[in-house]
Amino acid sequence: MTQATLPLIDIDALVRDDEVHRDCYVSNEVFDLEMERIFGQAWVYVGHDSQIPDAGDYWTTLIGRESVVMTRDKQGEVHVLYNRCPHKGARIAPEGCGHVKGLFRCPYHAWTFNMDGQLRGVPYREGYEGTSFDIEDPRFSMRKVGRVANYRGFVFASLAEEGVSFESFIAGVKSSLDNFCDRAPNGTVSVAGGVFRVMQRSNWKVFFENLNDTGHPIATHESSYRAARQYSNEKLGGEMPFQLHIIDGNGAPPKFWSDLDLHAFDYGHSYMTAIFKAPDDPLSQAYFQSLAEAKGEETAKEILSVNRHNTIIYPSCSPHTSFQQWRVIRPISPDRTLVEIFTFRLDGAPEELLQRTFIYSNVVNSPSSIVMTDDVHVYAECQKGLETQGGDWVSQHRNAGQDQPYEGADGGVIGVGSSELPIRNQFRAWHQYMSDAARPADGDTGS
Ligand SMILES: [Fe+2]
Repeated sequence: MTQATLPLIDIDALVRDDEVHRDCYVSNEVFDLEMERIFGQAWVYVGHDSQIPDAGDYWTTLIGRESVVMTRDKQGEVHVLYNRCPHKGARIAPEGCGHVKGLFRCPYHAWTFNMDGQLRGVPYREGYEGTSFDIEDPRFSMRKVGRVANYRGFVFASLAEEGVSFESFIAGVKSSLDNFCDRAPNGTVSVAGGVFRVMQRSNWKVFFENLNDTGHPIATHESSYRAARQYSNEKLGGEMPFQLHIIDGNGAPPKFWSDLDLHAFDYGHSYMTAIFKAPDDPLSQAYFQSLAEAKGEETAKEILSVNRHNTIIYPSCSPHTSFQQWRVIRPISPDRTLVEIFTFRLDGAPEELLQRTFIYSNVVNSPSSIVMTDDVHVYAECQKGLETQGGDWVSQHRNAGQDQPYEGADGGVIGVGSSELPIRNQFRAWHQYMSDAARPADGDTGS
């Protein structure tokens, strides 16, 4: 991740309109450059502010290779700091979430800090007299990351102090964030339950490519949807309860997938129409009632008519608006990707609805899911194959050249459901970030 690697990588030679070079997935040098040029620039999801409801709460995570900590101070403000003591460099917040009484204290020499990172106390203070140490000097405080944006509780940060504004960055998929929250009678959501973590043996971009790839379910998930159908036929007389319905849906015929809509936007973002519908049962009716009481029947119907499967917020996360899932993607190395799965409560909705959210997470996204294991297996197979000398190029040809501008509300580009539009779109953004031209130059520095 140094300037020394730059002349060795010809970014233009790695990406074509409808295929990409395997080095994008397997090269250490490319990965190093991604950490600098993509994760050092882009708006990256940090966490949800409901994870740190009180002053003194914190949540640690990664932005690229940078260990960071999200905090809440006494005024209620949220900060994102590098997790490093300015004294000897020790990480100050232990991994995960936690709470401190007023001040962070470094575990090494007990330097203390406000939740906004400002240095408050240094033991053996007299020893610093007559030195260049100055407790007021910002270089002796925990450093803040370049920029932070909090949109309806979703906290994103950019390590770069200048660059594309969050508003410009999120524009195409902002409607997914809005719908995520608007589905709550109170208009707010909060993280509920714990977090599932899965370390995938594949490149981070392989996971992103899969999220809106409708060509894979009927093949990749054959074993799981066949098992669901068999169980339904043999044990339930053909009934498909919610738990089985969300496995069975992957076996829909090709026309079903082609008829879906794929929408793609600047910066690599996209979303697709929903695959699975919530059942029309007493729980769904009670939920609708709670939403209608809060917002009126027409508005409630309008909100629920926005029914999407995965939204991609490239390069760090993917909300599932209909079932309140949020996946966070952390690249670890060219062939290792950490995926974290969070579940959210719709504030004001019947408590039982959260159980449905957990069911979806357990069945589709958890480490013990029989659906996600299908995916994780083929991702690892992709990585192993890409590491061979069996070929240099990866195809993205399906429906290339057929995408059309979308005249509807979110704009962007639309493609048929079976198109590889979202994948080509991600690599357009990848190419832009990775090229020198992607460096901030438009003076658009707001956050
Ligand atoms: Fe899949």
